[in-house]
Amino acid sequence: MGSKPPDRTFFGQPRGLVGLFFAEAWERFSYYGMRALLLFYMTDRILDGGLGIDSGSAKSMIAVYGSATYMAAILGGWISDRVLGDRRATLTGGVLIMCGHICLAIPAGAGALFASMIFIAGGTGLLKPTISSSVGDLYAADDPRRDSGFSIYYMGISVGAVAAPLVVGTVGQEYDYHLGFGIAAVGMALGLLVYVRSQHHLSPRSSAPKNPLRLSDAPRSRVITVSAGVAALIGAVAIAVATGVLDAGGIVDLISVVAIALPIAYFTVMLRSKRTTAAERARVRGYIPMFVAAVAFWCIQEQGATVIAQYADESTDLDAFGFAIPASWFQSVGSLVLIVLTPAFAVMWLRFDRSRRAPSTAHKFAVGLAIAGLSYLLLVVPAQHPGATNPLWLVGSLAVVTVGEMCLSPIGLSATTRLAPAAFATQTMGLWLSSNAAGQGIGAQLVKFYDAGSAAVYFGLLGLGAVVLAGILFAIAPLIRRQAERRESTEDASLAGAQR
Ligand code: PHE
Repeated sequence: MGSKPPDRTFFGQPRGLVGLFFAEAWERFSYYGMRALLLFYMTDRILDGGLGIDSGSAKSMIAVYGSATYMAAILGGWISDRVLGDRRATLTGGVLIMCGHICLAIPAGAGALFASMIFIAGGTGLLKPTISSSVGDLYAADDPRRDSGFSIYYMGISVGAVAAPLVVGTVGQEYDYHLGFGIAAVGMALGLLVYVRSQHHLSPRSSAPKNPLRLSDAPRSRVITVSAGVAALIGAVAIAVATGVLDAGGIVDLISVVAIALPIAYFTVMLRSKRTTAAERARVRGYIPMFVAAVAFWCIQEQGATVIAQYADESTDLDAFGFAIPASWFQSVGSLVLIVLTPAFAVMWLRFDRSRRAPSTAHKFAVGLAIAGLSYLLLVVPAQHPGATNPLWLVGSLAVVTVGEMCLSPIGLSATTRLAPAAFATQTMGLWLSSNAAGQGIGAQLVKFYDAGSAAVYFGLLGLGAVVLAGILFAIAPLIRRQAERRESTEDASLAGAQR
């Protein structure tokens, strides 16, 4: 299976990993930098350089935008698998993202904001699944370095995420919003530069579409029906928004529903496709419970930006150390912990995977989800007492959930590249990214139940739910491993070989 990985290495990892690490770090820098500034820019008074949008609508728009960005990854994956191939899709996506930040760098009001959202959601949809898929292509099918390689790659994401609010956010808020967004554009440009200069280290598999589209493949009537259906849906939503039938709350509900329905529909398509072999189908079935666990995990982890941010603001003693800690600082705790712990995790996965006692992917997921549950259960202790909590409780909880993230998120990327049906390689990566959109979609509904008075109940129930789900996954992990390890029977193998 698969061609040999390139020979030259970097600290034991394929050379191509270095370029992908820095390109993705800069892309995330531009994305998270822009997001750190967006709410302030949208809600600030027009006189002060903002757009004067009310805070409720702005928050809903930002949530919908974030969710749509990760859902777009499925479409981006499709374009890569069938038309462009990963390398060209990453480049195109990077250019679109840069255009999006440039739109915001020009002081041109709400029109420029909407244009930038389209550029950035579309561009990220193209870039994020394809760049992650290219990491997977650096490794042969049975290469034991895959999980630790993805852990290192994931650290790049956190390097970008932690630096962004400090640089883009500070410049944007202290000097000028558009200057801040301009820095995000420069960041993406640097990412593109790194990518272009290092792309010769990528696997040749990243250059061609994995399942090229031949127009004769799809009956024209089906193409017309699908396009008309999508256009009608977008039109209907646009009219509902314009006429006020669908208000901000309605849009959030709609996104929640779509974010859950989309992966279900996509799994169905993949399982039914003629291009999926019997063994691949078994692997997809084994992947589904892990996907569900990932949705639950993101549902908790992404509340770091909503419920936990609110808890930091309302229920934490921010003067505990003799100076006023800005509540926004808690947003960086996770990324910092991740950067510090990654080397240890990368070594640990390597050791594990070279030993005979390696835990399976499902086991790692179950542990990750259980740890996320524990991070919430930990908060039950301070939340029971009225009055301001010592900030160390929050820091501890955020550190714990990050350890869970390291067991689940890089491993999920790695497993996705290993378990994806060949014809759907990058689309499966898009699907993986949509687990985050689905988690946030469910989270958007759950957060409505949070209030400072009953915080202990909220954290307790969600934490317990996560631990129980993790227990179930742990119990069925041996079954999943058997599905994942199913090899092709002879006729499947020749079909798969022809596609690869
Ligand atoms: N921090 C992660 C990232 O930006 C969050 C994420 C996880 C996003 C999974 C999408 C899917 O990559």
